[in-house]
Amino acid sequence: MKELKVIVVGAGIGGLQTALALASDGHNITILETAKAFEEVGAGIRIPPNSLKLSNSWGVDFSNVSKIPSMGNRFLDWKGSVLLSVPYDDIQSRYGAPYYFLHRADRVRLLAETAHRNPKIELRMDCKVASYDFDTPSVTLAGGEILKAEIVVCADGIKSAVRDRVNGRTIPPQDTGDGLPHPRPRKTSA
Ligand SMILES: Cc1cc2nc3c(=O)[nH]c(=O)nc-3n(C[C@H](O)[C@H](O)[C@H](O)COP(=O)(O)OP(=O)(O)OC[C@H]3O[C@@H](n4cnc5c(N)ncnc54)[C@H](O)[C@@H]3O)c2cc1C
Ligand SMILES: *[C@@H]1O[C@H](CO)[C@@H](O)[C@H](O)[C@H]1NC(C)=O
Ligand SMILES: *[C@@H]1O[C@H](CO)[C@@H](O)[C@H](O)[C@H]1NC(C)=O
Repeated sequence: MKELKVIVVGAGIGGLQTALALASDGHNITILETAKAFEEVGAGIRIPPNSLKLSNSWGVDFSNVSKIPSMGNRFLDWKGSVLLSVPYDDIQSRYGAPYYFLHRADRVRLLAETAHRNPKIELRMDCKVASYDFDTPSVTLAGGEILKAEIVVCADGIKSAVRDRVNGRTIPPQDTGDGLPHPRPRKTSA
């Protein structure tokens, strides 16, 4: 396969995993990330067997990270009624890998470390992409530097600046209103 020069914009879980997958196919990756350092918001994140097997194939080693195996999934509606209960008693024999729970910060750190060790990946922090030229293709950094590649992957997250360019109009993310910590504002009657 021809080795492609790829720029990945954004070193979140999406960008880091894309870079690891492309590098394991032999491509040459530069990841550009606005943040100066990884400061991850934390809570639990699930790593199901399919994701775990892919991660392992890209050289991500979970052996020393804090984790617990998931015993099952229960899907609840917002009032707490059980919609579906799925036990994971046989997950290893059925899918060939366990189902893990990790801290999100640990997962991002592990992916970043694996990318850092990979000779096919250059991870550049403190690099904000200011604009894109889709024809060349190239990206221009906030400092003016222009970087060319054969493929540019935009993995710039929920506040993506490139989404509107690709769609040709502004499509802001919409709050579903279902999140418990931020309930929909109540109408107050006068
Ligand atoms: C607490 C919590 C728990 C979650 N649990 C689960 C779970 O169990 N299972 C699951 O599947 N999902 C879960 N999610 C969702 C999942 O974490 C997100 O969908 C995923 O992290 C999004 O990754 P991303 O790479 O698309 O975006 P992000 O993580 O937002 O990464 C985008 C990156 O791009 C960078 N960037 C943006 N603009 C530029 C630019 N112009 N130039 C350079 N860099 C730029 C940003 O700085 C950022 O680092 C959870 C999310 C949270 C917050
Ligand atoms: C995990 O920890 C052990 C013991 O400290 C060490 O020998 C091993 O290299 C570590 N593995 C990884 C992938 O960090
Ligand atoms: C990746 O490409 C850059 C420039 O295009 C080059 O300097 C670097 O040596 C390449 N790295 C690998 C591992 O091929």
